[in-house]
Amino acid sequence: MTISQGPDPLPLPQSVLAPLTRAAIFLVVTIKNDAGSFDTIRSFTGDLAGIVRAVEFRDIDAGLSCITAFGSGVWDRLFGSPRPAELHPFREFHAGNRHAPATPGDILFHLRAGRMDICFELATQIMERIADAVEVADEVQGFRYFEDRDLIGFVDGTENPRGDLALQSALVGDEDAAFAGGSYVLIQKYLHDMKAWNALTTEAQERIIGRKKMTDIELDEATKPSNAHSALTVIEVDGKELKILRDNMPFGQPGRGEFGTYFIGYSRTPRVTELMLENMFVGRPPGNYDRLLDFSRAITGGLFFAPSATFLEGVGQEQPAAAALATPPVAASAPVAPSSNKDTSSGTGSLNIGSLKGERNE
Ligand code: HEM
Repeated sequence: MTISQGPDPLPLPQSVLAPLTRAAIFLVVTIKNDAGSFDTIRSFTGDLAGIVRAVEFRDIDAGLSCITAFGSGVWDRLFGSPRPAELHPFREFHAGNRHAPATPGDILFHLRAGRMDICFELATQIMERIADAVEVADEVQGFRYFEDRDLIGFVDGTENPRGDLALQSALVGDEDAAFAGGSYVLIQKYLHDMKAWNALTTEAQERIIGRKKMTDIELDEATKPSNAHSALTVIEVDGKELKILRDNMPFGQPGRGEFGTYFIGYSRTPRVTELMLENMFVGRPPGNYDRLLDFSRAITGGLFFAPSATFLEGVGQEQPAAAALATPPVAASAPVAPSSNKDTSSGTGSLNIGSLKGERNE
């Protein structure tokens, strides 16, 4: 008996839209510069979904997920052509004594679960397969702190988009049909100067973040400074706000005086996240920068692309694999594309994002 096949299925995203979890591991590796290592990574990439399923099924209630994303520098060698339209190296920002540095990284694994042990097990299984082919650039175990607060004491994640707005904000649509269902991922690891931060009054801290510390209520327009963190990271085009999907995690080692926030932002186009960074580091207008940076220092920075799960499962050891996978149909509901890829991060402030607009989720 044959079952008639309908149209090709839509590309399935990785678990970008999965709910926030109590535990996460952020693992960043670089691939060794030899053909064998690249072959290893390709064959591992095709097998990864099976590895995740095996670990996940040992405790299905823990809600394990894994997002795998690749840097600009290795995309072509791993997958050939085409490449995601807006994938490029992390864009650094320098202003005053503020610096958003680019640091090494070819692959990012973002592992999330309700418990650390199952994240740890998956990281172990991943490294079992790829350890000989990579160098580890950075590895961070993040945890959810009281009431979803970061280590500077503020609730973090409140204004994340939800539901359909999250999907529209985080996933590539038909503007880059070969990579529909994928997502650009920007990461930065921040260390906080807790002594200096704690020396501020609560009111001063609230003016820096733009929200009340205890209740998480947004400061009213009259009170909130234009350089509050939650003002500079609001990007509006033609009166519509453009969102990103964040899953920041605290990390640290109190014994060593290390207190940090691992910033991770998923977006449909990296331009939105880059404009937020520009506003924070350079200022909007220039000089009117984010005072959070007087107390928080970025020590890593990377931009990656997390292709759809459909793309990943089709990758084999042979290169290139991308061309054959390059034309999946796209969800009819995907909104219209940005009109160009022009880099405006240090220019006029115009994003050229066309109709990529989300409604503010308030
Ligand atoms: C030291 C690192 C950071 C800390 C501790 C931090 C903390 C916070 C807090 C407490 C809020 C308010 C609650 C919320 O809506 O989540 C917030 C909002 C936000 N942050 Fe950050 N953040 C950091 C870095 C970044 C970076 C690097 C970006 C983007 C490049 C960013 C983008 C945003 C956005 C988009 C909002 C929501 C603004 C709104 O719609 O009101 N944050 N952050």
